[in-house]
Amino acid sequence: MFYFFLTAGSLLSSHVLASPSPRATTTTTADVLNYTFPAGANWPEPLPITGDWFFVHDPSMIQRETDSKYFLFTTHDKAGIITSNSLSGPYAVVGSVLPDNSSIDLPGNNDIWAPDVHFEYGEYYCFYAVSTFGSQDSAIGLATSKSMDPGTWIDHGEVWNSVTGDDYNAIDPNLFFDEHDKPYLAYGSFWGDLFQIPLTPNLMAGVGTPQEVSLNSSDTHAEEGSFVYKHDNYYYLFLSAGICCGFVEDDLPQAGTEYHVVVGRSEFAHGPFVDADGVALLDSGGTIILGSHGRVYAPGGQAIFVDKYYDSKVQSLQEREVFVYHYVPADGVSPYNDSYSSLGLNGINWSSGWPVLTNLNV
Ligand SMILES: *[C@@H]1O[C@H](CO)[C@@H](O)[C@H](O)[C@H]1NC(C)=O
Ligand SMILES: *[C@@H]1O[C@H](CO)[C@@H](O)[C@H](O)[C@H]1NC(C)=O
Ligand SMILES: *[C@@H]1O[C@H](CO)[C@@H](O)[C@H](O)[C@H]1NC(C)=O
Ligand SMILES: *[C@@H]1O[C@H](CO)[C@@H](O)[C@H](O)[C@H]1NC(C)=O
Ligand SMILES: *[C@@H]1O[C@H](CO)[C@@H](O)[C@H](O)[C@H]1NC(C)=O
Repeated sequence: MFYFFLTAGSLLSSHVLASPSPRATTTTTADVLNYTFPAGANWPEPLPITGDWFFVHDPSMIQRETDSKYFLFTTHDKAGIITSNSLSGPYAVVGSVLPDNSSIDLPGNNDIWAPDVHFEYGEYYCFYAVSTFGSQDSAIGLATSKSMDPGTWIDHGEVWNSVTGDDYNAIDPNLFFDEHDKPYLAYGSFWGDLFQIPLTPNLMAGVGTPQEVSLNSSDTHAEEGSFVYKHDNYYYLFLSAGICCGFVEDDLPQAGTEYHVVVGRSEFAHGPFVDADGVALLDSGGTIILGSHGRVYAPGGQAIFVDKYYDSKVQSLQEREVFVYHYVPADGVSPYNDSYSSLGLNGINWSSGWPVLTNLNV
């Protein structure tokens, strides 16, 4: 979910982006590790993952119906596929959704972004984005598979697109069904921020008029990575706000302007979404639920999936919602380098009516 590179003092192409640069001040590593978001949150650590490191950005995770194996999908690597038999790993990089690139005829069709995978009508649907940094000439594509294994994906090409001058950028897709069971794609990144478009019943094309559902009318319009999720009586719209990537350890952006996860909710799938203070997401609202803390820097690209797991305490199969995201480790071989993005997994406590991340015990 992505991409908009901010380099020191310069912005890579966008008509909404005049100066001033959000990097007005620079911050040291120590400042960042000391920074607390306004929410004063005490965010939990991600689940420790065993095994070798693997790259993850804009993750989508799902369990296979037949064997409960976990499939994790990532930006780059032609929509990389990573599998594991346990949430805590070890994870194995097994291949790609589109090893021969996307059939969409646009620059970027060999570097797939932000896969979003769902099980519908007895098949797995992978929505993905084709674009290049800072460009609005973008498209959302679809591939399907019966098993999710590498080599089984069929590319159906373009579902929806945007061109220079549109109100939106057609990347970061997320499939959801509204209260009338009608399929929609949530999407968007910068420009007019986040939108929804109806899909045809076979999920293969956008139809009708897109509706804007979230906008931060600040100088950068830095919202992307929509994820719409129904829990109890509300539809929650999750998004990633701020600077996603391009970090340099000694020249980090002002603390708090890096990627973090924000949420709003509505009784209706198409909004209006409001934050916990009642501010509309269309009016720059949003409640932060996850930001940098400890070795977790710039978390985002979030999704939720329902984990079916065996609970040894009650000796039966249970279900729980798992919050999936990527973060840039502030430690390791190359601190703050988003080429080393890692997988974050947490539980969710909804008791307040708002999602609060928890430790995940596996
Ligand atoms: C955090 O800030 C406090 C107060 O400014 C300072 O004493 C402390 O050294 C800082 N910690 C780090 C890790 O920078
Ligand atoms: C996919 O894109 C790569 C460039 O990343 C290119 O080398 C390769 O030939 C393309 N594959 C096909 C099947 O077109
Ligand atoms: C981040 O890591 C990549 C891959 O190792 C490397 O090519 C790049 O130079 C690193 N970037 C920084 C800012 O260190
Ligand atoms: C809106 O953008 C401004 C400037 O980038 C930022 O300070 C503010 O936190 C953003 N609002 C939300 C809800 O993310
Ligand atoms: C969820 O959070 C509430 C409020 O902090 C707490 O009382 C409750 O015990 C939590 N639920 C679980 C299952 O941890």
